[in-house]
Amino acid sequence: MSLGDYSASLRNNAIHCIINDRELNLNIMPSRRLLSVLRDELGLTGTKRSCEIGRCGACMVLVDGEPVNSCLTMAYQCEGKTVTTIEGITASAQSLSGGLDPVQRAFLEEGGFQCGYCTPGMIVSVKALLEHTPDPSEEEIEEALSGNICRCTGYGGIKRAVRQAIEWRNTR
Ligand code: FES
Ligand code: FES
Repeated sequence: MSLGDYSASLRNNAIHCIINDRELNLNIMPSRRLLSVLRDELGLTGTKRSCEIGRCGACMVLVDGEPVNSCLTMAYQCEGKTVTTIEGITASAQSLSGGLDPVQRAFLEEGGFQCGYCTPGMIVSVKALLEHTPDPSEEEIEEALSGNICRCTGYGGIKRAVRQAIEWRNTR
């Protein structure tokens, strides 16, 4: 392939999106998954790679505010969309309050993690839940976290963290 052909093929694979408040033009092969682009090309390693078949939720990110498994999302599907990773959640909390996001703080204070591998995905799912449903029922919490697997905690600390985050949200 000549250099000209190569450049043309890259142009054809161009996508424009916003990732963590940064407008980006990326040249992405159609076969690339969002998870690989985030971790391997953009260095956003807070999004975790685990099962890669949509079962564990470790790779959860927000696309236009909705939680999605980035291992099952093709990068080209993000054309024109807004992607938020755990790094984006952290950065926006820091610029708003100079500290952690309340959901992150609740996980810290309530022992919502042990090894921490599932935690970014959990926090992304909780953020999405509270955005749409500020005062969720137990069933709604369970449903929202049903796609996130934790091998360590037994979920007790995670549920306490979610309830704490809800309480802070309702009393601020
Ligand atoms: S790595 Fe995506 S769901 Fe497990
Ligand atoms: S804290 Fe280890 S997998 Fe959840």
